[in-house]
Amino acid sequence: MWNQDHLRLISSFSKEARQLRVYFDEQFKDPRQTHVRRFVWDYWNVPGEYNLIRTPAYEYFPDRLYKKFHSSLRDWGRETLGCHDVSPPWLSFYIDGCYQAQHQDQPHGPWAFVYSLTNWKQRRFTGGETMLYGDRKQLVTPQFNQLTVFNPAIPHGVAKVRGIRDPREARLAIHGWFLNPRPFIRGKLKTQSLENEILELGQWLKQSRVTAQGWSVQKFTVGTNGKVSGLKPLWTRLESSDQKFLSDLHSRMKKWDFGRQVGSSLVTLPLGFG
Ligand SMILES: [Fe+2]
Repeated sequence: MWNQDHLRLISSFSKEARQLRVYFDEQFKDPRQTHVRRFVWDYWNVPGEYNLIRTPAYEYFPDRLYKKFHSSLRDWGRETLGCHDVSPPWLSFYIDGCYQAQHQDQPHGPWAFVYSLTNWKQRRFTGGETMLYGDRKQLVTPQFNQLTVFNPAIPHGVAKVRGIRDPREARLAIHGWFLNPRPFIRGKLKTQSLENEILELGQWLKQSRVTAQGWSVQKFTVGTNGKVSGLKPLWTRLESSDQKFLSDLHSRMKKWDFGRQVGSSLVTLPLGFG
């Protein structure tokens, strides 16, 4: 059984949303006009699996505009998931007939994202929802400027779009994966200081013969006295043989002591199990 907690929706994610969308629309304003931005699209068709039109997002948009968006995405991944990088994202549009069939993208990264630039409220098409097949089927409507983050090991897809052919009316999304989970620290605490504690957690797991699989991202402060405070789980999607696994994990972490510090640090710690 999948842990239920496999999805987050963040609305009004980026200040750059409107500009990104306007830029995309401008390129298709006059269908008779020929220019370089028209030739960058890949018609991606894997029969029965994928049908959509895509291009690397970071090359499509003006540099400054895209970088602003990308750094807010990367920062969100660091603060919330402890993932240091974002895979080079795709920009994809879906017109009549476009879809993604149910699939999993397990090897790509621990979290996938879909950032929507779809004018969802004004749409004139049917379909276009992101579909997740966890314990039950879930339809996520890609609202404009919404970041959808989910577990890519959960089977997922995109409902077939019907009814429009103009790219300016398309379902439009920037999508990819959050990568490289490791401790993210704001402050002077060194990543190496966490190594012993993490090793110890591993030994505890081994000795207690508890099986656990999945991820748990924790956030906490290390004060000037070196002690942990304000520990809070940001996102846990975990299957374990022991009901008490998480509370045991927390009580261990609360006892961590890093010794005297020159200032306090805020730590996002992604722990992967299995
Ligand atoms: Fe996927």
